[in-house]
Amino acid sequence: MNQFKRYLITSALPYANGPLHIGHMAGVYVPSDIYTRYLRLRGRDVIHVCGSDEHGVPITIKARQEGVSPRQIVDRYHEMNKASFEKFGIAFDIYSRTSSPVHYQTASEIFKTLYDRGEFLEKTTPQYYDQEAGQFLADRYIQGTCPRCSNENAYGDQCESCGTSLNATDLINPRSTLSGSVPVMRDTTHWFLALDKYEPFLRKWILEEKKHWKANVYGQCKSWLDHGLQPRAVSRDLEWGIPVPLESAKGKVLYVWFDAPIGYISATKELTGDWERYWKDSETRMIHFIGKDNIVFHCIVFPSVLNAEGTYILPDNVPANEFLNLENDKISTSRNWAVWLHEYLENFPGKQDVLRYVLCANAPETKDNDFTWKDFQARNNNELVAVYGNFINRAIVLTHKYFDGAVPGRSELTDYDREVLDQIPQIKEALENSLELFRFREALKEAMNLARLGNKYLADTEPWKLYKTDPQRVKTILNISLQISASLSVLTMPFLPDSAFRLMEFLRIDNIPWDRAGDSDLVEEGHVIGSGGLLFEKISDEEIEKQVEKLLATRDRNNLPPSALVPPKGNITYEEFSAMDIRTGTITDAERVPKTKKLLKLTIDTGIDTRTVVSGIAACFEPGDIIGKQVSVLVNLEPREIRGIKSQGMILMAEDPQGNLVFVSPEGTVENGSSIK
Ligand code: 2FM
Ligand code: ZN
Repeated sequence: MNQFKRYLITSALPYANGPLHIGHMAGVYVPSDIYTRYLRLRGRDVIHVCGSDEHGVPITIKARQEGVSPRQIVDRYHEMNKASFEKFGIAFDIYSRTSSPVHYQTASEIFKTLYDRGEFLEKTTPQYYDQEAGQFLADRYIQGTCPRCSNENAYGDQCESCGTSLNATDLINPRSTLSGSVPVMRDTTHWFLALDKYEPFLRKWILEEKKHWKANVYGQCKSWLDHGLQPRAVSRDLEWGIPVPLESAKGKVLYVWFDAPIGYISATKELTGDWERYWKDSETRMIHFIGKDNIVFHCIVFPSVLNAEGTYILPDNVPANEFLNLENDKISTSRNWAVWLHEYLENFPGKQDVLRYVLCANAPETKDNDFTWKDFQARNNNELVAVYGNFINRAIVLTHKYFDGAVPGRSELTDYDREVLDQIPQIKEALENSLELFRFREALKEAMNLARLGNKYLADTEPWKLYKTDPQRVKTILNISLQISASLSVLTMPFLPDSAFRLMEFLRIDNIPWDRAGDSDLVEEGHVIGSGGLLFEKISDEEIEKQVEKLLATRDRNNLPPSALVPPKGNITYEEFSAMDIRTGTITDAERVPKTKKLLKLTIDTGIDTRTVVSGIAACFEPGDIIGKQVSVLVNLEPREIRGIKSQGMILMAEDPQGNLVFVSPEGTVENGSSIK
């Protein structure tokens, strides 16, 4: 690692169209944060940049769904995600956003440079167009059947089922996600990056020089290169995005995947005036942390852009992770199948490190992995509490019990003592080697091996049985245990920063340099340690059951057949709507209509009059329970005779797909007769 003078760590910019979940954390941000903290602890010059990806169809689709502007969506989720990262302890040097003016300028300049050099092909090609919506259908605005795996809901840019990257024209039976209509073809002009032209550069740079990349990353790149690269459009017909900086490009914006990685550069510019030192000096080691769906953009497309531009460095490594599943099912934002970071932070306050631990111990480094709440509980209770926490607690409590908290001195060492002391630097070295290779699971295991070593040492030597007969021996044992504890506070810092800081407080030590971790004299004889506390707490069955139940309720909702919801009726005019006179009224009396199961005869004070309404709600309500309830009444419905009773109007009810009814009532109480519009 020493040939580099500085490090530039980038973490994939998450789309600002929804909250962060554990899949994001396990795939990208926990490893990138561990790595950055590690480098910093080793005294390296390192910056870690990230920010919100605020362009692209995912944002505009979310805005449409909610009936708000894309700006409102990105503002909301940018703030929310920034706060979640901070609370979770992901220590970016900057969390920027791609809607920032610096980013607009940077992305536009890079586009212009490439344009002026003739790096783009300008092509007019037929693309899908939605005649009803009056719009070209870029990326996720079009769905259809995947030609590879037959998933009927593949998108115009990717099939989420088999992971294949697609062109809209590859889809079988394409349909617009805007209107549901079958799109037509219409000509449009775009700028294409001739990736095929960069193939010789990419082949040499990746296939020859990057053989040490993770197998999944190298393999994906090789497969792309072996299939032959095609020109890729870097612009889109959309309103939301960075305008293509050309006179002739009205209504066109840069493709989100052209501008997003440039966001790393813009974020660095915002962070420091000295940004070129990080981006334009071959002694900088740039590392992109991403998920596997981003490999092609970070290993093929963005390097081609940087290479064509000519003044930037290229990534030295791209340690992409696979995906994390949740309880044996793919994490999905649209199906709400996720553990949301902000909810976790609320439900488990102060337990950021537990989630960091579980996500790292079970990181999807070489294959997709599964997160289960049971495993989360087991890892906390059996590993963090029973091994690490237990060891620290015993060492501190015994030091107070026998020596009033003063670190005792060591006397003669046994072979076992020596063996244990020798193992500390060996564990440190193994941990470092694993981290250098981006093997975070393995590195964490080494850190825990140190806790395990300490725990076993105390269990084997049983100092609590020796004090009366051999206090000298107890001194040595506790001295060694406290040296292990001090090393633990350094070596676990990248993984469990909050707990490591607390451990330092327990031991009343600070700033042991990384290189000294592993030494046997980190806490001096006579140094008085703090009284300690619990480093980790058990997580109860009830807490876990609550989380599992929440997920099961989501699964139940997801499993409802979609057809259970009645499709929308045909449109009506505004006049037809406003012809309905709906008022608030109070039920003053209710009784069953004899010889019927469904009907109640209601007396309603409508503010204008008191009238009778016959309503088919008897299966869901007892007459006695609804007297006094304020409801909504359609008062100008033509009167009807039902079972010999003249019914004057209708009560508004909401009915779910299972036939459960609830009243549509004003939120607070209002005067009867108030109009509902
Ligand atoms: O996949 C995603 O969530 C993208 N928003 C990642 C972008 S990474 C980088 F290029 F900005
Ligand atoms: Zn597919």
